[in-house]
Amino acid sequence: MTEKRITARAHTNIALIKYWGKRDEKLFLPMNSSLSLTLDAFYTDTTTSFLPESQEDIFILNGVTQEKKEQEKISAFIDLFREAAGISTKIKVESTNHVPTAAGLASSASAFAALGTSLNELTGMKMDKTTLSTFVRQGSGSATRSIFGGFVEWDMGTNSFDSCAKQIDDASWDIAMLTIPVSTDKKKLSSREGMKLTVETSAFYPAWVAQAGKDLHMIKEAIAAKDFIRLGEITEANGMKMHGTMLGAIPPFSYWEPLTVKVLQKVTEIRGQGLPCYYTMDAGPNVKVLCRKSQAAEIKQILDDTFPENLSIFSGVGQGAYLLTDIEKGR
Ligand code: ADP
Ligand code: DP6
Ligand code: CO
Repeated sequence: MTEKRITARAHTNIALIKYWGKRDEKLFLPMNSSLSLTLDAFYTDTTTSFLPESQEDIFILNGVTQEKKEQEKISAFIDLFREAAGISTKIKVESTNHVPTAAGLASSASAFAALGTSLNELTGMKMDKTTLSTFVRQGSGSATRSIFGGFVEWDMGTNSFDSCAKQIDDASWDIAMLTIPVSTDKKKLSSREGMKLTVETSAFYPAWVAQAGKDLHMIKEAIAAKDFIRLGEITEANGMKMHGTMLGAIPPFSYWEPLTVKVLQKVTEIRGQGLPCYYTMDAGPNVKVLCRKSQAAEIKQILDDTFPENLSIFSGVGQGAYLLTDIEKGR
């Protein structure tokens, strides 16, 4: 018997214009278009293989066989590929996160982009990257953008087939990001639950949707002009607007911790000293700082001197998802 094992790697991405809210929860169609930077420091490696004799899919994450709920989530995602490819064979998924899981560091983005890239090959679908991005979207919205590297836009689209990602710039102009890990514990409220509560209850949500469209337009102009300062200003403002919507939800909630605020204040202070750097945050307490690659070491040093227990992690620009191995081994 021949065992075909396909391994793919996908990097995380951090949104500069956030995706926060679905207009269709089943198809993962977003309320607004978003834009991100793919990071090379954080990624997921996922291997898939067929289980011809099994009645169930198997999902192993970081060496641990996952419980039924996680298993079912993965199976529903695999079904998209099985249905499109016209097969019913069960599949084994073995994944390793080189990023903390469910801590607001975008593990779901690298996870589903890696799994989708692997399944695209295993099932023989071999879809182009744009089409693949519409498939991985249905595992986790942010994964749509991890199919590509650099600055990536996820166009909200009009339906499931055109809500896809595209690279708009390779970000090879002195761009980097620092991550300050405030806490890498698993969050209490997943991104999925947090955005749903916000859409359904936040008084500020309509304003968010209106602002996100404007911010996206402006940030694309800043990127086209390679205007780092403008890029940073729009990034910082957009992220805070997203977090503002959560305070308007019922019940109100926040992903912030006390140290989060101290880090944000420090970033503002560093900028005041003449080193341009701008913060953004996702659904978690950790802070990401957009900076020029050539100034990253200097900014990192100041942050690490100030927060020696929470050493920052440097990341350059990441590439899109790709296949690592394609091993056919005889048994
Ligand atoms: P994050 O901020 O890390 O993206 P989310 O709440 O969006 O947090 O998503 C975390 C969830 O993503 C996990 O609970 C798990 O269901 C899924 N996930 C994370 N890593 C993997 C992986 N390598 N393979 C499959 N699913 C994963
Ligand atoms: C704050 O993609 O994790 O990071 O689509 O429900 O899986 P699901 O949510 P997810 O949400 C990401 C939210 C965010 C902003 C962003 O990445 O754009
Ligand atoms: Co996520």
